[in-house]
Order: sequence, then C-alpha cells, then structure tokens
Amino acid sequence: MWNQVQETVEFLKNKGITSPDFGIILGTGLGNLVSKITIDVKIPYSDIPNFPVSTVQGHSGALIFGKIGTKKVLAMQGRFHFYEGWPIEKTVFPVRVMKYLGVENLIVSNASGGVNSNFSVGDIMIITDHINLMPVHPLHGKNEDRFGPRFVDMHEAYSKKMIAKMELVAEDLNIPVQKGIYLALQGPTFETPAEYKMVKLLGADAVGMSTVPEVITAKHMGMTCFGISVITDLGVEGTIESVSHEEVQEVAKNSEKLVGKLVEEFVKQN
Ligand code: HPA
Repeated sequence: MWNQVQETVEFLKNKGITSPDFGIILGTGLGNLVSKITIDVKIPYSDIPNFPVSTVQGHSGALIFGKIGTKKVLAMQGRFHFYEGWPIEKTVFPVRVMKYLGVENLIVSNASGGVNSNFSVGDIMIITDHINLMPVHPLHGKNEDRFGPRFVDMHEAYSKKMIAKMELVAEDLNIPVQKGIYLALQGPTFETPAEYKMVKLLGADAVGMSTVPEVITAKHMGMTCFGISVITDLGVEGTIESVSHEEVQEVAKNSEKLVGKLVEEFVKQN
C-alpha cells in the first residue's frame, strides 16, 4: 500500500497538484460543490494509477484541484463505499494519497438518515462525533508505521475548532445548522424501523454508509477533520417512511447550494 500511495502521489504531483490547503470528499448529491472551485486540474479516477473507480450513480468520479478564494483545494468528486465491494483499505486509498500531497485538513460530506426527533428532511448537520458500526476497519491488519501509529487517539475525530468556526460561518450566512453524532453501517440497504430505533438508542443522531473509514484513516495520519451531513430522510419513530436513492439524491441536491455556501465561506476564512 505504501508503494502504491507514493506512486499515485508522484503521478498527481506531475499533474501540478501540490500542497492543497484542504482536502474535500464530496458525498451523495453534493458533488456540485465543485461549482465553487476554480478548477486548475481535473483527472477522472480511471486515469489515476491505483485508484478505485466509483460505481454509484450520482458519483461522477474525478479528482479536482483548484482554488476557493485564495485557498488551494483538492476535491474528490465521488467517493468509494465498502458496499461496492472494495476491500476497506482500498476505499480509503485516496485519503492516504491526499496526506502525501500535503493535505492537513479534511472536509467530508455525506447524506444520512436522521433519527433525532428535532431533525427535518433537508437539515444540514455538523458532525460532532461518530460511532463505527461497520463490520470492517480500515486499520485492520499489520500497521504501516510510516502512515501512523498502531493505536490511534479518536478523542477529537472532528475538530472542535473547525466545528466552532463553521457555526460562526453558518450564523453569518444565516443558514440554520444542526449538530450531531453520525453512525456508520455498511449498507447498501437503508435501515429497517427496528434498526433506526437501534441507531437512536445507541446515541446517534444520523445514520449513513460512509465517512467513518475515511475519518479514521485521516486521523491515523494526523489530519484534522470536519464533517457535514445532509439529512435526506427520517428514521424517527412514527415518521418512518420509505426511502429511495433517488429521494436521497433529490433532497441532497436541494440542500447542496447551502452546503456549498457554507463550505466555500469556511474554506475562504480558514
Ligand atoms: N440510512 C443510511 N444511509 C443513508 C440514509 C439512511 O437513512 N439516508 C442517506 N444515506
């Protein structure tokens, strides 16, 4: 894995990607955040050595390097999920690559199902912490000491400083935001009513199928992380309704403009 990461990093450096201020992973329906980026380099995943290729509809699959204001950003348009069949360490390969391209701050977005009864469809939730209930772990196996330590501190998986900054940005822009805990399951099924209830009982506010492996990997390498989630459906008892990928994408698309504004301003100010 180490050699593959270095090979990919060399390839991307030769394409002109150097020391981004932020890495950004764009989740379901949030891919349009790229409209905020003045693009210098765009490379389809299929052209990048050792990169997996995204298979999910709505995840177009390209690495984008450019600027938001004066800040250099490296954005993944489309991410890799465990449910697609990749070994978990392959889904987080791009995060390893980001680190060796110089990324110290990672911003991750996703869509999730809300289980907090104060949440509504379309709400934007700042992720304050996570619960990892995926059946796999990106650090499983022999530790690669060059990446990071065997035992990783997860006290502040999501930077308190960045959360506070984003709350100020949201207040300035008059965009309401929620805060909460994100729980990761493997998917690709959405949850049964009993499972949504379990998620809530376990202390989470929202449930999804991504983000946690990426954040664990970023923390392994000492990166600072910030996560934002669009609540695309509700698994709150009494209001549980059927949900489809199309509905999730539609809601995410509607909230996309607001998330775009928040992240744009956040990056500019940092
Ligand atoms: N569950 C899991 N993943 C999701 C959901 C959900 O309800 N909504 C969007 N992604």
